[in-house]
Amino acid sequence: MIPQAIIDKIFDVAPIEEVVGEYVTLKRAGANYKGLCPFHDDTNASMSVSPSKGIFKCFSCQQGGNVFQFIMEHEGLSYPLAIKHLAERYNIPIEEGQIDVNELKEEARIKEGVYACLEFARKYFNDRLNNSQDGTVIYRPYLIERGINQQTIDKFSIGLSGTHKSHLLDEALKSGYGAQQLYDAGLVKKINDDGGIIQSNLRDTFIERIVFPIYNVSGKVLGFGGRIIKKDTKAPKYLNSPETVVYEKRKELYGLSVSKNDIRIKDQVFLVEGYMDVVSLNQSGVENVVAASGTAFTEEQARLLKRFTHNITMLFDGDIAGVNASLKHVKTLLAADLNVKVALFPANEDPDSFIQKRGTSEFQAYVIERAQNFIELIVELKMGDNKHDPIKKAETARSIAENIAALPDPLKRAAFISETAILLAIPERILIDEVNKFKQDSRKQKEREQRRDERVQEQQNIPIPIDGPPPGFDYVPDSLEIQMAESLLVDKKNYQEQDLLKTLILYADQEFDEEQNVAQYIFKELEEDEIWPVSAEYAEIFKEAHAYIEEHKVLNELYFIRNPRTSKLAADILSKRHSLSPGWEENFEKIVKTDADNYKHQVVQNLNYLKLNHIEMLMKENQENLKTADTDEDIVIFQNLHANLQEIRKKVTDQIGTVIL
Ligand code: CTP
Ligand code: MN
Repeated sequence: MIPQAIIDKIFDVAPIEEVVGEYVTLKRAGANYKGLCPFHDDTNASMSVSPSKGIFKCFSCQQGGNVFQFIMEHEGLSYPLAIKHLAERYNIPIEEGQIDVNELKEEARIKEGVYACLEFARKYFNDRLNNSQDGTVIYRPYLIERGINQQTIDKFSIGLSGTHKSHLLDEALKSGYGAQQLYDAGLVKKINDDGGIIQSNLRDTFIERIVFPIYNVSGKVLGFGGRIIKKDTKAPKYLNSPETVVYEKRKELYGLSVSKNDIRIKDQVFLVEGYMDVVSLNQSGVENVVAASGTAFTEEQARLLKRFTHNITMLFDGDIAGVNASLKHVKTLLAADLNVKVALFPANEDPDSFIQKRGTSEFQAYVIERAQNFIELIVELKMGDNKHDPIKKAETARSIAENIAALPDPLKRAAFISETAILLAIPERILIDEVNKFKQDSRKQKEREQRRDERVQEQQNIPIPIDGPPPGFDYVPDSLEIQMAESLLVDKKNYQEQDLLKTLILYADQEFDEEQNVAQYIFKELEEDEIWPVSAEYAEIFKEAHAYIEEHKVLNELYFIRNPRTSKLAADILSKRHSLSPGWEENFEKIVKTDADNYKHQVVQNLNYLKLNHIEMLMKENQENLKTADTDEDIVIFQNLHANLQEIRKKVTDQIGTVIL
């Protein structure tokens, strides 16, 4: 168990707007902040962050909660690991034993091991570059020769892999990491595919390579890109970590963790092709730069960038490969509604070599001068100097139409169609038809993909046995995790209990009468009438809150925001009450409609419903007893009790009737 003191400390030092702001650009909106929600494909800043409450809430996909929920969702971590993550981020020491690995879900445990191995490898590689014989004599001089200085090596934590087949493996095993973990981290490979994951059948993935750690947006190492410097070899120039449980290539961008602030400030990003481009531009003071490093640019990467800026300029080699790559990327970026420009570099130059040769100001001037929108780019590439060749012109128009069709915004589509019509002297009407054809094609394509996905899913749908868990479900999460995951979903049985909890969260410390506040009144009623919630989950929440107020004498919304069992619900209702979003009215629930003066009625009403529930339960039980009673004496007792309960029920329903607004 992690001590509550540490959790409280994190709440105190980790402002929600700062934690969320690491992942999303937030803009002030009154007392709150707004930004694109990272949990769905958001287009209009549906997420609100409230610094005063310490909560975030998306009004579109309904994600919400405190800082820990945000990290859990975003980094895919369990609750204890989210705590650890933030503790590390804010330099709050947690001792080894305080996080019990046995408490973690199987998947979280594997990920944790993988992250630890990757971090170990990063340090080990970096140390080898700086201090080993090979590092100081061969590899560091190579980097220095290429104009990369020590400060940059440190900033990106560039390293040197092992130089024989099990340098890292041996060292990591010696330091207590497991063979399986290293394998899961993609740091070692099997020598013989059919063999097991044992030391004798493993070798390092990276051998004799300069390695660039690849980080996720928050700065955790996910893998490495390794460059060979030997020339006389058939090995590929770059070798990258494989996909692992933590590294999904299509979701990451190299350099983002260091560049995100500069991207935000400049409201612009450069997309380059390689690790060296990112590193070298950074060193020259151009810090708003990322690379897709080797993979095709994906929708997910576009969405990730969009959280920081909408303006992207691609800087690609002017050679054929570079040009083709840039054209492919353009469509993805346009489809994500990003403003795309492309600046092609002279053949045989990349941003790295260019800036090294000509310096930062010439680089910047070149980029401004050379940046084109996609229409200009396609015209230049497809037509070259043959401005009047009708065949080339048709090809060009078609290619432009294909890209325009990808734009989600109809106004932008119209504007680009006009521009193309003028530029190519082709009637707009014909271009519109062409664009529509492409739109139809992609719609059909999407439908086909969807049908295929459905078929695959059908095939994978193995019926779940009626008794017992579904196949492969051998892990039983601890109850807290389940509760957090399900975030107190309403089910029919407990919605009255949930309503009472909502009322408690909203009004706990408000006055109920001269003697007591709402929380005290609620707990007194629950105790006196023995109407504690029937569902174990709610009973626990209420009892914990009760114990808390007894001990600390205060209970307010802060308690519920910080409590992992209730924080999602708290974020949900508190963000509604304070109308964090213009769309909040749509989410309006009856509970919010009650204005400030009505909360007392609401408390009484909630309690009445709870009472009614309990009375009905007792009546049912009594009815059963009556059926099976065998002495006249018993029958009389049960009948009397029945009459009594009926009377109480009438009183309660009468009161409910008069309280109803
Ligand atoms: N790449 C890769 N695998 C390869 C070649 C390239 O993954 N076999 C990726 C790397 O991310 C590399 C990028 O494509 O950074 C661009 O490749 P390239 O232009 O060949 O390399 P540079 O980044 O320019 O590296 P250097 O300047 O060291 O040659
Ligand atoms: Mn290069």
